[in-house]
Amino acid sequence: MYRVKQTVRNRMTREQVNKEEEALEIEESIEVCELMPCASPFADDMRHIADINDEFSRTMDPILRMYNAAINVTETRLNIIKDEFKYRGLRCPIHHIDTRLKSIKSILGKMEKKGMDLSLNAACNNIYDIAGVRVVCPYIKDVYMIKERLMAQDDISIMEIKDYIAEPKKNGYRSLHMIIRVPVYFMNKKQLVPVEIQIRTEAMDMWASLEHDIKYKSLYQDIGVDFTSELLECSRLIYQAEEKMEYMNNILEG
Ligand code: GTP
Ligand code: MG
Repeated sequence: MYRVKQTVRNRMTREQVNKEEEALEIEESIEVCELMPCASPFADDMRHIADINDEFSRTMDPILRMYNAAINVTETRLNIIKDEFKYRGLRCPIHHIDTRLKSIKSILGKMEKKGMDLSLNAACNNIYDIAGVRVVCPYIKDVYMIKERLMAQDDISIMEIKDYIAEPKKNGYRSLHMIIRVPVYFMNKKQLVPVEIQIRTEAMDMWASLEHDIKYKSLYQDIGVDFTSELLECSRLIYQAEEKMEYMNNILEG
């Protein structure tokens, strides 16, 4: 990982390097990992990314603000749902909400991986997770309720739904993914901006976060172990526990 970063840095001015270092400090390790796997042929392409990064950033910046506004709109809608339950004195179906705006570096990395033209147009029309919102719920039934609540809002359009709870990924990943478009009034114009929403339970969230950690640790430390079947087994155990706890809750809540 360090080697690739160094190659890119050799082509930058001091000021750019400083900016880059600041950005790297803020950036989550997940994105660095996604972009810079050491043993990947993709690593060489980073030089190309470094060359175009500046020009792209200038044009991408206002667009990212629009995506950020879309995150705010979505989060507000979800907070309104939370408030409603609080006001009615009911158990809240949302435990917490996480949001993230994809970094320019990460957008470029994804476009390169997909073999796309590195243009603004291509980014806006093909990368649907620039704005990301994760909703973490107590129970599985809450996940579907939040999905229904969003679908019922007539100014939100649904572009895609992937139900990895009904059909988990082969590795055991479970979550409900939606790509929605939310209206954003930006520079006096209404835009329907895509937002990727991941809705999952606390237990699914715990599995996903630890699986990510374990997967990347084993990728970078070549210690010759494969935890694929263990991770799948953990996912199954978590699912069984969730079902039992939801059963108890159903008896209590009716
Ligand atoms: P893109 O949308 O092009 O990124 O690919 P895709 O549509 O195949 O991805 P998908 O919508 O299925 O998943 C996108 C996001 O879900 C990822 O960025 C992760 O945040 C999360 N995710 C998907 N699969 C896994 C997994 O196996 N483990 C973990 N920890 N997270 C996952
Ligand atoms: Mg996707």
